[in-house]
Amino acid sequence: MNILAIETSCDETSVAIVENGNTLHSLVVNSQIDIHAAFGGVIPEIAARSHIEVMIPVIEQGLQQADMTWSDIDAIAVTQGPGLLGSLLIGVVTARTLAWSLDKPLYPIHHILGHIYANWITKATPDALGEGKKQLVLPEKEPEFPVLALIVSGGHSQIMYGRSHTDWRVIGRTQDDAVGEAFDKVAKVLGLPYPGGPSLSKAAESGDPPKYKLPMPSVHTIDPGLADLRTETNYSPAPSTKIHLPKSSDTSYNFSFSGLKTAVLRAVQKEVGVAHDFPSFELAEKLNQTQIADFAASFQAKAVEYLVSKTAAAYHEFHPKTVIIGGGVAASQPLRQALSEAIPIPIEYAPHILCTDNAAMIGVVAHYASLTTGPSDPHSVEVKPSWPL
Ligand code: KG4
Ligand code: ZN
Repeated sequence: MNILAIETSCDETSVAIVENGNTLHSLVVNSQIDIHAAFGGVIPEIAARSHIEVMIPVIEQGLQQADMTWSDIDAIAVTQGPGLLGSLLIGVVTARTLAWSLDKPLYPIHHILGHIYANWITKATPDALGEGKKQLVLPEKEPEFPVLALIVSGGHSQIMYGRSHTDWRVIGRTQDDAVGEAFDKVAKVLGLPYPGGPSLSKAAESGDPPKYKLPMPSVHTIDPGLADLRTETNYSPAPSTKIHLPKSSDTSYNFSFSGLKTAVLRAVQKEVGVAHDFPSFELAEKLNQTQIADFAASFQAKAVEYLVSKTAAAYHEFHPKTVIIGGGVAASQPLRQALSEAIPIPIEYAPHILCTDNAAMIGVVAHYASLTTGPSDPHSVEVKPSWPL
């Protein structure tokens, strides 16, 4: 079954054709980074307008790259939420119209499930990314359940545990900012260009991670999903010597990234000798290159340690067969390396283009939705800008 999937939840207009939930026939990602860079972040109205402009050409390119016509397409999938309202609307209205006018089943999909299922793509046709483009290096096999998933992006930071395609639960989530958002905001304080994650990572390469002491925020709220899972699996805490938790009393897998971000801001203010009310956008000009690199390295090291310690603790508690990672921050090399060192089973990583927002991951989830819940009525599918899992 070939599914044509559409993703427009934020600032990427993407279309993919995925067969049977694991084979990529085409993937087009039209990024708006250049448009938003001038503003230092995504402007929702501009994002929606840009989706309108490129939606139809991107769909046409998706079909062309796969060497397919509409008669080869069995179903339409689209990101229904969460995301920016105006951006989601463009994808959802397009998908509804296609499904209705071409009489094809429609699958509205949750964006975060998409980030998880990017890891199910194990095959791709040679020109899936376009003629003459680089071939994708994909995992050799699909993840085996139970699966522990760390989803880290600009909008989400969650640890999820899946026992089957229909049994996923969140066992930890950020209480405030997402980790990618923290990367982006810290990068702004340090005067590094948008998008902040990659530019902060680059600056950190020449920095000294232990230079600035930053706290590891302690969160004690237990996610209801974790409480349920512990009851269902007869949870008994592993010996504390075996798990590396940020604090021995911290047995929650929830995060707080706002605290870490503010800690960097305070440390920068202290370093340059200004008060707490000094405008944050004027701090960068008071820092030299060494200080910028050291702050970037100190923040990145702490954020990575925080994510890895919680994921490793969840691994040791629930002993999944597979650990996967998804979302834009999953592109981070230091995060990948630290996770591989902390977890005793090999981790297969999806290529960068499948970690950041893309439609292929939406096509995979739709395949499993077609086997379980079935399609939705194209007349009644509405966008869900806030949609908890
Ligand atoms: O998944 P994604 O493309 O969009 C959302 O759904 O949010 O993730 C984008 C986020 C941004 O915050 C970006 O700064 C971050 O991923 N990011 C990185 C890296 N590459 C992208 N963060 C840290 N290190 C990176 N190498
Ligand atoms: Zn995303």
